[in-house]
Amino acid sequence: MTVLDLFRLDGRVAAVTGANSGIGRAAAGALAGAGADVAYISRRDPAEAVVDATAEGRRAVHVPLELAEADEDRCAAVVGEVVDRLGRLDILVNNAGTIHRDDAEVHRVDDFARILQLDLTALYGLCRAAGRHFLRQGSGRIINIASVLSFQGGVRVRVPGYTAAKHGVVGVTRALANEWAGRGVNVNAIAPGYLETNNTISLQQDPERYAAILDRIPAGRWGVPADIAGAAVFLASDASGYVHGAVLAVDGGWLAR
Ligand SMILES: NC(=O)c1ccc[n+]([C@@H]2O[C@H](COP(=O)([O-])OP(=O)(O)OC[C@H]3O[C@@H](n4cnc5c(N)ncnc54)[C@H](OP(=O)(O)O)[C@@H]3O)[C@@H](O)[C@H]2O)c1
Repeated sequence: MTVLDLFRLDGRVAAVTGANSGIGRAAAGALAGAGADVAYISRRDPAEAVVDATAEGRRAVHVPLELAEADEDRCAAVVGEVVDRLGRLDILVNNAGTIHRDDAEVHRVDDFARILQLDLTALYGLCRAAGRHFLRQGSGRIINIASVLSFQGGVRVRVPGYTAAKHGVVGVTRALANEWAGRGVNVNAIAPGYLETNNTISLQQDPERYAAILDRIPAGRWGVPADIAGAAVFLASDASGYVHGAVLAVDGGWLAR
């Protein structure tokens, strides 16, 4: 056994939300590349993305989920469906989420509540559903996708609901990590910086904003979804067995400034 074997995920099953695009697709493909079968949890058909896993010789299934409907029962049903169809569940990546750009003067309370449901409450529901399964099993990994806006308010990004939700993602990650660390369940988070995905499309299309953000990134480039792959495999694998409640920034150095 070499240290690299610690990163293998053979025989394990991962569920990744929002796995049809961007960071979720990259994480799902990376976990499959390390040996895991993958449940693509998404509201849209992930047929295009699923080939990443099947090309690795892994099993891949689609389990539909609309985050707006992710209440207690729906989250439990999603976890149950993954276990029924793939035989077990070892890893949950809570990646799906949305963003709503508006000045706080126009970001109404109902907009704020909607973003909190999609980006935080649904994530908690899935943590809880998978966590109950993992506690019975005596093992499991949860990786929540946070943001640099889990630590900052953001200048000119105009996303009060999103910022609040992403701060909450780190809070939930730490709270659950503390409750479950002694019972075989690791709960951690990844905080991506500015990555070229649909989430940041309006920033990418604004040359002045794109350049201003680029200028602040020590690595000298925007990130891409593949930048998340190694962090996802690390936090899903035995290589991070003693890592609990951590938030791993994958941000080109953004938060270090
Ligand atoms: N890109 C960045 O710079 C960045 C930085 C920090 C954090 N993040 C976080 O990374 C995660 C993934 O985002 P991304 O950048 O990869 O963008 P993306 O390509 O837009 O991915 C977002 C995913 O969430 C899904 N989703 C959105 N609303 C949903 C809903 N109501 N119900 C079910 N699924 C829904 C999307 O499904 P559809 O394809 O059907 O819309 C998509 O699969 C998000 O949590 C985001 O906040 C991104």
